Amino acid sequence: MTKRFPPINPKCPHFIHGGDYNPDQWLRTPEVLDEDMRLMKLSGCNTMTAGVFSWASYEPREGEFHFDWLDAAMDKIAKNGGYVVLATPSGSRPAWMSEKYPEVCRVNARFGMNREPHQGRHNHCRTSPVYREKCRIINTKLAERYKDHPALLVWHVSNEYNGGPCHCELCLEAFREWLKRRYDHDLDKLNHAWWTAFWGHSFGEWEQINPVDWSIHGMMLDWNRFNTDQTIDFFKAECEPLRRLTPDIPITTNLMGFSPTLDYFKIAREMDVVSWDSYPPYHDRSDDWKYGAHVSLAHDLNRSLKQKPHMQMECSPGVQNWKPVNKLKRPGLHIVEGLQCIAHGGDSVQYFQWRKNRGGIEKFHGAVVDHYPSENTRVFKEVSELGKILASLDDVVGTTVNAEVAILYDWENRWAIDQISGPRREKKDYQETCVEHYRSFWSSGVSCDVVNEDSDYSKYKLLIAPMLYMVRPGCAERIEEFVRNGGVFVTTYLSGIANESDLCFTNGYPGPLRELMGVWAEEIDALYDEEKVEVLAAEGNEAGLNGAYAATTFCDLVHLEGAKALAAYNSEFYKGRPAATVNHHGQGRAYYIASRNDDRFHADFYNTLINDLKLRRALGCKLPNGVTAQVRTDGQRDFIFILGFNREPVQIDLGAQKYRDVVSGVEVQSTLALPAYTTRVLEPVS
Ligand code: GLA
Ligand code: ZN
Repeated sequence: MTKRFPPINPKCPHFIHGGDYNPDQWLRTPEVLDEDMRLMKLSGCNTMTAGVFSWASYEPREGEFHFDWLDAAMDKIAKNGGYVVLATPSGSRPAWMSEKYPEVCRVNARFGMNREPHQGRHNHCRTSPVYREKCRIINTKLAERYKDHPALLVWHVSNEYNGGPCHCELCLEAFREWLKRRYDHDLDKLNHAWWTAFWGHSFGEWEQINPVDWSIHGMMLDWNRFNTDQTIDFFKAECEPLRRLTPDIPITTNLMGFSPTLDYFKIAREMDVVSWDSYPPYHDRSDDWKYGAHVSLAHDLNRSLKQKPHMQMECSPGVQNWKPVNKLKRPGLHIVEGLQCIAHGGDSVQYFQWRKNRGGIEKFHGAVVDHYPSENTRVFKEVSELGKILASLDDVVGTTVNAEVAILYDWENRWAIDQISGPRREKKDYQETCVEHYRSFWSSGVSCDVVNEDSDYSKYKLLIAPMLYMVRPGCAERIEEFVRNGGVFVTTYLSGIANESDLCFTNGYPGPLRELMGVWAEEIDALYDEEKVEVLAAEGNEAGLNGAYAATTFCDLVHLEGAKALAAYNSEFYKGRPAATVNHHGQGRAYYIASRNDDRFHADFYNTLINDLKLRRALGCKLPNGVTAQVRTDGQRDFIFILGFNREPVQIDLGAQKYRDVVSGVEVQSTLALPAYTTRVLEPVS
């Protein structure tokens, strides 16, 4: 049953629209605040994200607190009908703290395993009791002061937690304690799980364990797990005063898409609402729509983490400043990017940042209000246009996405793949491979969720798990059950290789999936960048494969053990061996794609599955290249978002169905002209 979720905070029954706001950088020109209020209303922004890096202005000297500027800003924003996403400031700390309590600074490899000097940001020790206590004090003060403030909408805890590990004595000690719990205080158990007999690295005492030895893959996996858990522990400590004093204010922390270092599935469990920061490198040498698809998958991930509307906490309203080349966002693309979040189930469009700062490393980063603070800039006008569109879409707030397809992306699997040495060191590209498999659904307007190895798969028709290298206990069993009950499962080369400690399976790859897949994967060939192996579709195969395809990077050599070949390699010494197979199992089936294939392979293969499984598409018709359509629904009303990432105009042939343009109210039928970089929101009319 599809339902409508309440708004992120019922105080604001609209889409949240706004940006990071730093009035503490403008204390010498207080008139800026009034001007900001005028511009805020003009741009259709309703929410400011305040205080992300404001600790030094709240507490310039230990124990001396000032909140006057924030009082003034919050009051003004409330008076003007706006809201505040209020941050806790732990992303950067005042200089006095690093000076007086050096233990708060991270010890890491970037500084030769020394403490980082006071600089930059996002570099605190997560274990330090002093840092946790200082965070508790400032967070308590903020919660006490603003708990009844009408503007307070959401807590934004810290900023972009990242996994850059801290190697201080406190963190190492906490890691060893974490290991004792994981391995039942049994060093033998740990030594076995990590296969430390290799290169003679067995540990005789817990104190000898130091997570710098990249040759012990099991240890590095546990170190990553520990860093996620320690981040969660730190996050929960930060949340404690907020939960106690403001139980009704939802809490988030801003994630970073597929950022490799922390397991977001775990962190999301502790959040009330998921949010993330999106910075795709549009207009580089690749097609814009490819980044569009990548960002779509990231939105699907963020929505799926809690299976409810998420937030886009940051994106640049204009240019970025930290890419090697920072191109201006082409006209129209910003609106596409904003509505893309909404299309995929998000309930906010927020920016870094509201007003460009005059100094500091990010002074050339895009903002709604430029150094010359005019409402006549291209960027301001485009933000304002998006503001108007968002304001006309109140009926969409809280609706959701109903996916029949799930893409399996798992952080622990990624850590394992990233560190393996072989079959290729480079171009393993787990994340990109997931996007490549997703693109066919994106191009056909079929919604997808993102799941991991611990998820429940029973509600999906199709589960796609590219490169499922690590298979943790219970996962293969749940996949088998899913297929037995009629589900369709797809996996690829480099799957079913190792367990949760990165110990290789010894029952023949794909290990615990071997019986389900009906293949034994004996060896895997790696190709140089320029090499290709031809893959030829079998005559009359049931997967819609047709003709010759090009395989690159990885070619798995499998033996059929009950599965049927759908295609075969057509060159190399393995010419004639199966390159894609299907195994019918229970009421479902399981596909093994043995090589990394070209886009045409994915299109033929997945479009056939889309038709066979009658997967719901946003629009009944074919979409032009570079365009996707995504549906949000409350079970009664469907809102179809059409997102066009093309530089040139295209046209959609809508067929017989009539629609209403939800923004303009105009009826749309037969053909829909899409100018370059454009969006439409349609509702079917009978
Ligand atoms: C990140 C940070 C912001 C800002 C932007 C710039 O997402 O959270 O503070 O630095 O990048 O793109
Ligand atoms: Zn530390």
